[in-house]
Amino acid sequence: MKMKIQTHRLLVAVATLVVAGCAATEHKPQATTQVVESTQQPRIAADSRIAAGRYLVRVGGCNDCHTAGYMQAPSAIPESQWLTGVPVGWQGPWGTTYAGNLRLFVQQIDEDAWVKYLHTRTARPPMPWTAVNAMSDEDLRALYVYIKSLGPAGELAPAFVPPGEQPKTPFLNLNPVMPQSSSAPANESEKQHCQ
Ligand code: HEC
Repeated sequence: MKMKIQTHRLLVAVATLVVAGCAATEHKPQATTQVVESTQQPRIAADSRIAAGRYLVRVGGCNDCHTAGYMQAPSAIPESQWLTGVPVGWQGPWGTTYAGNLRLFVQQIDEDAWVKYLHTRTARPPMPWTAVNAMSDEDLRALYVYIKSLGPAGELAPAFVPPGEQPKTPFLNLNPVMPQSSSAPANESEKQHCQ
């Protein structure tokens, strides 16, 4: 009888181990799939990542500075020209910066490097780096996939010109300027007001 109970216990123990073993082997592929999903395969389908990226470019105002003419006449600029950079500089105390060609930039950098770069770079104005730094990984990846889907186009933007050096391109002057002290009133209504 005693023997019988022991054998029974042994069987239960073996059965438990087998079940545990099965559970473990059943679990393994799941764990592997999860890892693959988070690092290589996007959880969201490529099409919706492209749509999300396009949306983010529009609400993020990236075209205002990175697409020639967009700020003045957005509807006149076809999407095929979006984000090809602008060769007109932004000059201020930081020197002269150029909003680069993002279509060519994404060709030189992979998705992970793009995410790291946009999370950590804190470079010169007027690029809204703090806004881009705060974007989620998922949003930055969507931006990358969208910009890459547009394909390479346009020329590289001119290189940054340090403070005190003259750029060879047109530029917008953002240096602080003191209001002109003038005795003449600025316009007719002010003239009347002063009389
Ligand atoms: C107000 C103008 C402005 C807006 C809006 C803007 N950028 Fe920029 N961006 C710039 C300028 C100017 C630079 C160059 C900064 C420098 O030289 O340090 C730049 C640089 C960059 C760079 C680095 C490119 C390189 O070649 O190193 C990336 C990437 C970038 N912008 C992405 C974006 C994205 C994405 C958005 C929209 C969410 C955006 N920018 C909106 C002006 C702007």
